[in-house]
Amino acid sequence: MALPHPLPEASRVVTLDAAAPDPSRREPLGRQIYRALCDMILSGHLSPGTRLPSTRQLAREWGVSRNTVVNAFEQLTAEGYLEGRVGDGSYVSRELPEGLMGAELRVRQDQGERRLSRRGAALAATPVSLPKPVGSLFSFRPGLPALDAFPFDVWARLEARRWRRPPRELLGYGDPLGWRPLREALRTYLHAARGVRCEPEQIVITAGSQQGLDLVARVLLDPGDPVWVEDPGYLGARAALLAAGARPVPVPVDAQGLRVSDGAARCPDARLAMVTPSHQFPLGATLSVARRLELLEWARHAGAWILEDDYDSEYRYRGRAVAALQGLDSGGRVLYLGTFSKVLLPGLRLGYLVVPPDLVEAFERARALQDRHPPGVVQAVTADFLNEGHFERHLRRTRELYAERQAALLAACQRHLPDRLRISATDAGMHLVGYLEDDLAATERAARAGVAVTPLSAYSLETAGSGLLLGYTALTPEQIEAGVRRLAAALT
Ligand SMILES: Cc1ncc(COP(=O)(O)O)c(C=O)c1O
Repeated sequence: MALPHPLPEASRVVTLDAAAPDPSRREPLGRQIYRALCDMILSGHLSPGTRLPSTRQLAREWGVSRNTVVNAFEQLTAEGYLEGRVGDGSYVSRELPEGLMGAELRVRQDQGERRLSRRGAALAATPVSLPKPVGSLFSFRPGLPALDAFPFDVWARLEARRWRRPPRELLGYGDPLGWRPLREALRTYLHAARGVRCEPEQIVITAGSQQGLDLVARVLLDPGDPVWVEDPGYLGARAALLAAGARPVPVPVDAQGLRVSDGAARCPDARLAMVTPSHQFPLGATLSVARRLELLEWARHAGAWILEDDYDSEYRYRGRAVAALQGLDSGGRVLYLGTFSKVLLPGLRLGYLVVPPDLVEAFERARALQDRHPPGVVQAVTADFLNEGHFERHLRRTRELYAERQAALLAACQRHLPDRLRISATDAGMHLVGYLEDDLAATERAARAGVAVTPLSAYSLETAGSGLLLGYTALTPEQIEAGVRRLAAALT
């Protein structure tokens, strides 16, 4: 297509009104001039060889200091957009290939052909979570830890110590499985606290469990492969499957967790089952021992994998935590996934996968192809935090705090929403589910009143219950009381 070069003569008089800076904008005036002239040159509105008015004249016309214009011209000259001739003003560089001018314009015209790959389109169509509420005064989003209880001073001390004398291995390219001392500390912890049976070699440190889910999908699934997902279930797990082109098959859950026989009847040859056995997300059931054995037997028989997402099992307020399904597995079928997002901070982006021994090499190579490994010092500080007793202390403290916060939420709901919400205490977790009719409308009304809650039905593919997820761990009892009062006003 012909480019708009109406008068390519060096001698023609150009007006640069379109490049006049606007003092009401936040961008510095010189930067505005620079960008406007770049645009005019790249779009072909100023053709090679065009002579520009003098900086003195432009400064006068635009009401800015001459220095501002001179600096912009100098930058454009240094980058090759303009050329200057001593005593003869500035010209649009003749070196610029005329045929390529207007490239920006053409890019916009070519939009039709700028299509994504099939994989890219699947990624772009798959949000990993519900939209973040904006401008809410009280956020009852589930699964967020108490920032007010995090020992920042301890963390800062450990981090400073590591940076003062960092071992060389922390500074270069590290092991794609992760910093070995962190994997050893995790092995000890997972063995004692969760009954997980593994060697440090089987542990892969990831950037949160989301990266672990993505890794599992990439390494174990082909496009079209059916995968059992709990219904209702975790959106991040379903998103990782969809992004990999796999086919989530919803399997209902009840008071004993995943209904394994329904899964086996519906899709006996699934490649993988994704489960949250310790504390089903979002309804909270613990997978019964009978169902655990049934699930392991199905996987053995079908030659399928099981992904155990043990995201918040540390938060159990009464009784002992149920040991991990991984510890019951004698057939090497279970991959165990954990995260520091709940017990420390989501912003750390640290999680871990425990894989059966024969999968280690494949996972190690695939992990290196992602981002190689999380930052070395972050891994080392986390290992120190575990090894020096801070983790145990933090868990004990937050467990007490969260039990109190759950009680505060229940009391506030009973006080302000006695007839509107069916809600009861649970022994574990970081949120409660309050049942009511039409959770989508309730969520919208709450949002308009500045209260962020999450509708249960958003987590379901088929078996839509209606309720609100109310996360209580990140809010103080005072905030919980005020937030529930506001929620009640919005719902009644
Ligand atoms: C079921 C479940 N798994 C895992 C996670 C943690 O995700 P990540 O480790 O990527 O922060 C969450 C957090 O919301 C969750 O609810």
